[in-house]
Amino acid sequence: MTHEIAHAREILAATRLEHVRYAIRDLAVVAEQLAREGKKILPLNIGDPLKFDFATPPHIIDAVAKAMRDGKNGYAPSAGVEDALEAVRAEAERKGIGNIQNVFITQGVSEAVDICLTALLNPGENILTPSPEYPLYSAVLAKLGVQPNAYTLDESAGWEPDLDNLARRIFSGTRALVVINPNNPTGAVYSRRTLEAIAELARRNQLVIFADEIYDKLILDSDPHISIAALAPDVPVVTFGGLSKGYLAPGWRIGWAVVSGDAAAVQPYVEGIHKLLRARLSANTPEQYAVRAALEGPQDHLAAAVGKLRARRDLTMKWCETTPRLSCVKPRGAFYAFPKLDIEGGDDEFVRSLLLEKHVLVVHGSGFGQAPGTRHFRTVFLPDEATLSRAYEGITDFLHQWAK
Ligand SMILES: Cc1ncc(COP(=O)(O)O)c(C=O)c1O
Repeated sequence: MTHEIAHAREILAATRLEHVRYAIRDLAVVAEQLAREGKKILPLNIGDPLKFDFATPPHIIDAVAKAMRDGKNGYAPSAGVEDALEAVRAEAERKGIGNIQNVFITQGVSEAVDICLTALLNPGENILTPSPEYPLYSAVLAKLGVQPNAYTLDESAGWEPDLDNLARRIFSGTRALVVINPNNPTGAVYSRRTLEAIAELARRNQLVIFADEIYDKLILDSDPHISIAALAPDVPVVTFGGLSKGYLAPGWRIGWAVVSGDAAAVQPYVEGIHKLLRARLSANTPEQYAVRAALEGPQDHLAAAVGKLRARRDLTMKWCETTPRLSCVKPRGAFYAFPKLDIEGGDDEFVRSLLLEKHVLVVHGSGFGQAPGTRHFRTVFLPDEATLSRAYEGITDFLHQWAK
């Protein structure tokens, strides 16, 4: 008896995914191939401190281990365990956020963003996201079938938001705006004046502010980090934070959101968010017991981490300032720099060839969105000085051989 073997028909992915890009990991496939061939790659592409000489503070690891041993291994309440919620609320209050209406714990800021955008947007509506941006936002928007609406971060003004451009991009269907502060990929930390102006635009146009403050503990200069929610208790603000960056535990996938603003105004939206929180059961349970230990325990690791990052930022700036065809706005927070390239051709092509020839992995600026006609790359200054110097020498050599 013969069986005809039917050819498997390709299962196509949904067309709305066409515009989903995550440039930060795209070139990683090429890098992995090079590594398999025995090449040593200098990875300046991913914002994971644990890949370098940073370690999760032991006291927060102990808190998770204890929670596991104490049997805290079931599902948590959908909004999060009480112990973590209280600690997040207290931290928000310490940052001056008033009018707090709700707090919830998620699997990283990534899940909080997904849930908060999904709970807000109807077909035909949009939200303002920065350009250059952190690509999580446009990936979620693509999933929701929402058209992008980007506002410009102005390189000539230290990457502060261009407020005129922001105001011009508020349309009738615009529901919210995203402020990433400290910023990925630029490293900018916004001034009180800028934040007040953004809050005023939101107030006048009835926009929700999504304040992504995942890097709030990683401030490299003396200016304090200001939460935009603290400046505008009347405006609906969802402030995002988590353990991934300042508490050096990105693999635990613990983030949170604090909703502030007028109680009656935010209530229906908060109810919508909680429907989605319930539908996905809960965030990781034992890791939630690290939140209080992190926010209220010793903070010594922070001074050490910021000290290292400051030295590595300074090395990065010195390199940018002394290398022809490179320029860079000084990052003042997080661990990214976004240097401008004065070259011919696309920055994607540049970054790919750089990887193949010099084995240095950075991310092309076009992967974050950038002003037309400009070229950039994002580098991560998490590696130690010796590794950074080697990587930067490789880029300098490569720039010499790249046709202008
Ligand atoms: C601006 C920004 N928001 C959110 C995230 C994701 O954070 P989490 O690990 O909490 O999902 C990142 C990670 O790099 C980020 O840079």
